Amino acid sequence: MNILIINGPNLNMLGIREPDIYGKNTYQDLVDMIRSHAEKRGVSCGFFQSNHEGAIVDAIQDAMGKYDGIIINPAAYTHTSVAILDAVKSVGIKTVEVHISDPDQREDFRKISYVRLAAIATVKGKGFSGYLEAMDILIDGNGEDKS
Ligand code: DQA
Repeated sequence: MNILIINGPNLNMLGIREPDIYGKNTYQDLVDMIRSHAEKRGVSCGFFQSNHEGAIVDAIQDAMGKYDGIIINPAAYTHTSVAILDAVKSVGIKTVEVHISDPDQREDFRKISYVRLAAIATVKGKGFSGYLEAMDILIDGNGEDKS
């Protein structure tokens, strides 16, 4: 199994950006943590981070034929991007939505998630370990819990 982990805008700033919300660990720490979990679970993974909506759409399209699952944290684009939702629907690759914080407990404008409509599950408010849980959902195939 090959899983693509996509992170959206400002997630390259982890460790610097609002540490009270997102923690003090960096994007590289996140990548290392996911990679070691993937090794433990015997799956391959690839990483993509961009601050640009169209680049994220391209990455989702390019995943066709290469990846069996996508873990995506679209960051701010979660709340605005129909294009990312449509891309996930277009490729038909099982996708789990992840958020480090719990957007539903924050400002009202964060309560809408477009990508959620195409995701098999959402993991939120669990810090970096939410990505590992998302990977387990893709591997173990128990992804209807959107809570
Ligand atoms: C986020 C939550 C979003 O509302 C925010 O815009 C982000 C990060 C999270 O991981 O908690 O950039 O997706």
